[in-house]
Amino acid sequence: MPLDTPVPQLPTTLGTLDALAFVPAGTKDDMTIVGQLGQTLDGRIATITGHSRYVNGPASLMHLHQLRACVDAVLVGVGTALADDPQLNVRLTKGRNPARIILDPNARLAPTAKVWHEDGARRVWLVSNTPASPIPPGVELVVLNASTGNIDPRDILRALHARGLKRVLIEGGAETVSRFIRAGCLDRLHLLVAPIIMGSGRPAFNLPAIQTMNEATRLNTKAYVLEDEVIYNIDLSSQRLPIDFSNTSENR
Ligand SMILES: NC(=O)c1ccc[n+]([C@@H]2O[C@H](COP(=O)([O-])OP(=O)(O)OC[C@H]3O[C@@H](n4cnc5c(N)ncnc54)[C@H](OP(=O)(O)O)[C@@H]3O)[C@@H](O)[C@H]2O)c1
Repeated sequence: MPLDTPVPQLPTTLGTLDALAFVPAGTKDDMTIVGQLGQTLDGRIATITGHSRYVNGPASLMHLHQLRACVDAVLVGVGTALADDPQLNVRLTKGRNPARIILDPNARLAPTAKVWHEDGARRVWLVSNTPASPIPPGVELVVLNASTGNIDPRDILRALHARGLKRVLIEGGAETVSRFIRAGCLDRLHLLVAPIIMGSGRPAFNLPAIQTMNEATRLNTKAYVLEDEVIYNIDLSSQRLPIDFSNTSENR
C-alpha cells in the first residue's frame, strides 16, 4: 500500500466490541500487525505452571474471536501451542477462520496438535530446524534463519507477506509478543486486563530493563470497559519500523 493511501476510517455504526475488532490498514507498509495479551491487574498472563485458561471473561474472549475473524493470519509461539493446545479458529462469533501460524524454531510441536487440524484454513509451521517428525497433511513448512535462537520478526512478516497474509494477529505468548515489540513490528497491541491479582505467575512482557522512569514510554492508548474488564487499544505506530519485503532470509 502506498504511504499516502488513506487509513480506513472506523465505521461509526458498530458496537464497542465490533469497533474494537476493526483493524485499520497499516501506515508504514502494507502489513498490519496486531498483538494481543490477556493479563491480570498485576500483569500476569499465566500461572507459574503455565495455566492460562482463562485469564479473561466472556466479553474479552468474544473480542479475541472477533479479532481472529478480521485478520488473514493468527500467529502463536510454540510455548503457547504446547501449553494450551489451542484451536486458533473463530467459534464465538461469525467469521472466517484465519490461517494459523506456529512459530516453532526447533520444530517441537507434535503432528497431533489441534492447530494442525484440517478445517480448510491454511496452516504454516515456521521453523529454523527441519522437523524430525512428519509434517502434518496440508501444513506448509517455512524454514527461516535464526541467529542465537532468534528469528527476526521482520523475516517472519516477509514470509507471511510473500504468502498473501498481510493482516496478522500475534496472539501470544509473552515471549513472542515481546520479541515483535522489541523488533518494532507491532502496529498496535490489545491488552485485555482482567480483575484478578495472581500474585505470582508469568509476566506479560519481557523487555529490556530500564533504570529510571524517564526511559519508560508512555503509550498512546484508548481504553474500553467491557463488563468488569478493560481493553487497552494501544497505538504502537510510532515504534513500528517499515519492512523491506525484497530482502528475505527464507530457505526456499
Ligand atoms: N493470557 C494470554 O493472553 C495468553 C496468550 C498466549 C499464551 N498464554 C500463556 O503464555 C504461556 C506461553 O508463553 P511464553 O512466553 O512462554 O511462550 P510463547 O511466546 O508462546 O512461545 C515462546 C517460544 O516460541 C519461540 N519463539 C517466539 N518468538 C521467537 C522468535 N522471534 N524467534 C525464534 N523463536 C521464537 C521460541 O521457541 P523455542 O523455545 O523452541 O526456542 C520461544 O521459546 C503459556 O502458559 C500460555 O498459556 C497466555
